[in-house]
Amino acid sequence: MKVSIIGIGPVGLVTGAAFAEHGNNVVVADIDKERVNALNSGKPPFYEPGLDNLVKGLVSRGLLRGLFKPSNDSENLPLYYKSIRDTDITFICVGTPPNPDGSMNLEYIKKASIDIGTALKDKKEYHLVVSKSTIVPGTTEDVILKLIEEHSSKKREIDFGACSNPEFLLQGSAIAGALNPDRIVIGELDKKSGDVLMELYSDFDEKIPRLKVGIKTAEMIKYASNSLLATKISFANEMANICERFGVDVYEVMEGVGLDYRINPGFLRAGVGFGGSCFPKDVKAIASASRSKGLKVPLLDSVLLINEEQPLRAVELAESAAGDLKDKDVCILGLSFKPDTDDVRETRALPILMKLLEKGCKVTGYDPEPKAVNNFRKLFHQDFSIVNFARSIEEAIKDKDIVIIQNEWEDFKKLEPRIFKTLMKKNPVLIDGRRIYDPEIFLKEGIIYRSIGWKRNF
Ligand SMILES: NC(=O)c1ccc[n+]([C@@H]2O[C@H](COP(=O)([O-])OP(=O)(O)OC[C@H]3O[C@@H](n4cnc5c(N)ncnc54)[C@H](O)[C@@H]3O)[C@@H](O)[C@H]2O)c1
Repeated sequence: MKVSIIGIGPVGLVTGAAFAEHGNNVVVADIDKERVNALNSGKPPFYEPGLDNLVKGLVSRGLLRGLFKPSNDSENLPLYYKSIRDTDITFICVGTPPNPDGSMNLEYIKKASIDIGTALKDKKEYHLVVSKSTIVPGTTEDVILKLIEEHSSKKREIDFGACSNPEFLLQGSAIAGALNPDRIVIGELDKKSGDVLMELYSDFDEKIPRLKVGIKTAEMIKYASNSLLATKISFANEMANICERFGVDVYEVMEGVGLDYRINPGFLRAGVGFGGSCFPKDVKAIASASRSKGLKVPLLDSVLLINEEQPLRAVELAESAAGDLKDKDVCILGLSFKPDTDDVRETRALPILMKLLEKGCKVTGYDPEPKAVNNFRKLFHQDFSIVNFARSIEEAIKDKDIVIIQNEWEDFKKLEPRIFKTLMKKNPVLIDGRRIYDPEIFLKEGIIYRSIGWKRNF
């Protein structure tokens, strides 16, 4: 099939690569020329393990290409619309960032919908529009399809079809998630729409469960899934804080809890909280949308509150181990929101950094992925001279009083206690925010070790 995708973000590009890998002809469009140029030269514009090779191969075989969406006064605009019109299916994969009050910002969704409508104006054949962006239930039908109808003068179900096809990939292992998802959820406007999308997925492993539901249900499945995963994390974090007071190790507790087949061990690792472009934003968006319908959402509110406070626990632990933090040399290892990505959206490194600066610390940040450091610099709008960015782990750790592990890159897991002992100042304090080390080994080496939910923090 011929597929067009709007948005060269992690979702658009990885989804596009997955469909191209299955032999479809895919064009991925973006308003960001740099992203389009990078894609067309065979290089993904962001870091995702394995994506380099996959994209390079697909671009050179002519199965995947980037398409620049020109500005509205450009004479190239008709060519852009033609490229969209010439495909059978268009996926909307633009961002849905939060407004300051937590509600969903539909600016990109609306613009993409208007573009699709304009492109379909002169199309005689049937076209399928699929929303993959995470959007509050009702948005596909009430916003996207309405705008497409307005700008194309065509009718849903007659001239074009629509589906919601939420994306569940995890950055850092996104390719596996897109090529071999654990389920395919298709919210169909009508039977024909669902059948066309099902056909696109017909090459995917037949063992992958396919679930056909209504559009609003599919949209809600995404929010319910992310809210439940975020709840598991905040639950583990609250249990961690409780366990510490009882001298019990939360990791041992959660191992026992996760063995229950009704619960499963995923997302029960206590730490400095969840970040990224999805969990915080999605929980806030569905909570805000529910409130606008007059509903209280105390569980989701608590999930978010625990998550806001959790990164500060790392600073509290540092303070309890090292005393007054004023003028202490502190290093944050890991700036991206999780390992194997350069994405820093809602990274827990930021609240940790801000708290350390407030306490008068001298802070150094380090991430093994240089793009993550650059992205973090853009996120942190203040004067950069007050934060030092190291170019190697050794440089980051050297002469520090305290090291805080913010995420679990493999490079950090491999570090021997000896390296901390040798490079850090006297009485080195290690705050293991993700429990990547065995506490006993570090204690034996004479390192003052603390970790979220560890039984001997007090
Ligand atoms: N990132 C994830 O792990 C993930 C996972 C599942 C679902 N989602 C959801 O998928 C959606 C996309 O996420 P993302 O992280 O890929 O977003 P992103 O913001 O990283 O990328 C979106 C891209 O769309 C482009 N864009 C915006 N408006 C456009 C327009 N009118 N025409 C062409 N391009 C346009 C932007 O320039 C950007 O490159 C969001 O709703 C997100 O919540 C994300």
